[in-house]
Amino acid sequence: MHSIDFRSDTKTLPTPEMREAIRLADLGDDVGGEDPSVNRLESMAAEMLGKEAAVLMTSGTMGNLIALLMHCKKGEQAIIGDRSHIYIGEGGGASALGGVVYRAVPNDDRGMIDLNDIRRAINPRTGFFPPTRLISIENTHNNVGGMVLTSEDMEVIAGLAKEYEVPLHLDGARIFNAAVYLGIPAAKLVKDADTVTFCLSKGLSAPVGSLLCGTAEAIDRARRVRKMLGAGMRQVGVIAAAGIVALETMVERLADDHLNARRLAGGLSQIPGITIEQDRVQTNLVFFQVNVRSQDEVVCRLGQEGVKVLGNRPTWRFVTHYGITSNDIDYALDVIDSVFKEFAS
Ligand SMILES: Cc1ncc(COP(=O)(O)O)c(C=O)c1O
Repeated sequence: MHSIDFRSDTKTLPTPEMREAIRLADLGDDVGGEDPSVNRLESMAAEMLGKEAAVLMTSGTMGNLIALLMHCKKGEQAIIGDRSHIYIGEGGGASALGGVVYRAVPNDDRGMIDLNDIRRAINPRTGFFPPTRLISIENTHNNVGGMVLTSEDMEVIAGLAKEYEVPLHLDGARIFNAAVYLGIPAAKLVKDADTVTFCLSKGLSAPVGSLLCGTAEAIDRARRVRKMLGAGMRQVGVIAAAGIVALETMVERLADDHLNARRLAGGLSQIPGITIEQDRVQTNLVFFQVNVRSQDEVVCRLGQEGVKVLGNRPTWRFVTHYGITSNDIDYALDVIDSVFKEFAS
């Protein structure tokens, strides 16, 4: 049975063109900077993000971790959103491995952080306090439903960061979703961030990899930290080759995922037992509340009909991606409708 996997855009499989590119990739030892495919991917990433340089990472988590470790020494403070992936979903890595002090400030329903909260969190420069060395934001913001911070949002936070001479990091795991939604180049959206992480392995459908982008000097330091963590990789052009195809062919099509997400949200809004705010569906994440007799059984029944979802939580999250067509959305809506009727509370 064809399955429709709404659990995450990390479930995407590489395209046929990526598999072919992996087969044919030019390779070398990337620890010595000799892998032509990695070098090409890193230059493309830097150019698309409008930064001087980029370095390939194994994952988004590693890109963010290394950014935090580069910007902050032991006992120094990073200001991060309290609903951010870095704070909630990355094992507290920079704190555990680098002694970085996380200072969480509230994310609002769009993933934005109030400037006064940031001001209050920036420590005075006296020996008493952990020095504030980083402000980090996320765009699109996963835990608030894939909502987008605009260029203006980014500019006001960057303005504050500059005022206090604190660098700004952007967790842009899905930055191309944000850029496509806004209809602007990603480089414009991230222009004020000192460092940016983005992922190849989510909506862009490559099997592995994220890029950390920034100034040439910052990326040199990031390479050193990456090596320290044991993540210098050798003939890693096999990964980069798929990443190049991702950047060349998979960015503009994210608009299809956004359309499918809205189609899905429209259909879900008609199903009894589901409450959804359709106007909050901007990109490829669809959040909604469910009211059924047994969530576990619903998840299981949907799975039997080929619709894979994550359940058993107050808010459900469905993610649209390259592996899901508009016909799949229609089929899934029929299945969800009938299963929810079966389990109506
Ligand atoms: C916003 C955000 N940042 C970072 C990550 C981490 O990426 P990875 O799973 O590649 O470590 C994720 C993963 O879902 C994410 O949603």
